[in-house]
Amino acid sequence: MVIMMKAMEIYEGKAKKMIPLDERKFIMEFKDDATAFNGEKKAQFKGKGWLNAQISAKMFKILEGNGIKTHFIGVAGDNRLIVERLSMYPLEVVVRNIVAGSLKKRLPLPEGTELQEPIVELYYKDDAMGDPMINHHHAKALGIGEDELREMESIALRVNEILKEYFRERGVLLVDFKLEFGRNERGEIILADEISPDTCRFWDAKTKRSFDKDVFRFEKGDLISAYRELYRRLS
Ligand code: ADP
Ligand code: TMP
Ligand code: ASP
Repeated sequence: MVIMMKAMEIYEGKAKKMIPLDERKFIMEFKDDATAFNGEKKAQFKGKGWLNAQISAKMFKILEGNGIKTHFIGVAGDNRLIVERLSMYPLEVVVRNIVAGSLKKRLPLPEGTELQEPIVELYYKDDAMGDPMINHHHAKALGIGEDELREMESIALRVNEILKEYFRERGVLLVDFKLEFGRNERGEIILADEISPDTCRFWDAKTKRSFDKDVFRFEKGDLISAYRELYRRLS
């Protein structure tokens, strides 16, 4: 199963607008809106859209430089990227290096425990269902083949190695993150959506302070200061 957006209609999601540019490209506009717990908690933070667009662009450039195929084409203004239009898999692929978030409900390990090997998880992307965690058998029932799942998981693990090292050099721990994938017209599996503090957990290596959406989810301080500090470390 893949999800194809309607020909030339604008799609407005929780954090972004997808504006068709032509048959093959979208403008991906990052909003200042923040949501958590599948839209239950909502707020706006002036400047978040700009920060997430800039941080995502940087992440995609680093990954492209390391041979990962992404949908990123270019930056089109303050909070807009141009991306390749894809048929999306309705999946969230999560990679975890350190125990945090929902993993604490699944394993009897305290927050902050370093995992011996990264854990990869699949979720079916559907807010109304609460994005349930699924396995390969469930994904196959949705028409997603074993080879496609293996390829997405293998790309996700390569992305993890590249970004973990990149952030380590900047005093930041890449705790966990979520990726989305789509297929292009040539049938290639392409890394899509965003890679930002909305979709990753980043901790300061020394203080373990969060530079990500946990600041909003769990009221840990000022979201914009946290995102700005992450951006500063990349610059
Ligand atoms: P949501 O739909 O979860 O509220 P967003 O507000 O982030 O999320 O909206 C962005 C939407 O665009 C998501 O549904 C995402 O799967 C989709 N998307 C991301 N990249 C692409 C792409 N290159 N082509 C088509 N759709 C994409
Ligand atoms: P979790 O611990 O809440 O399952 O989240 C794991 C990672 O995935 C974390 O970096 C945040 C990210 N994430 C999203 O990007 N979107 C989501 O809907 C959820 C639940 C998590
Ligand atoms: N992405 C989900 C939401 O926007 C959940 C989360 O990130 O906590 O509601």
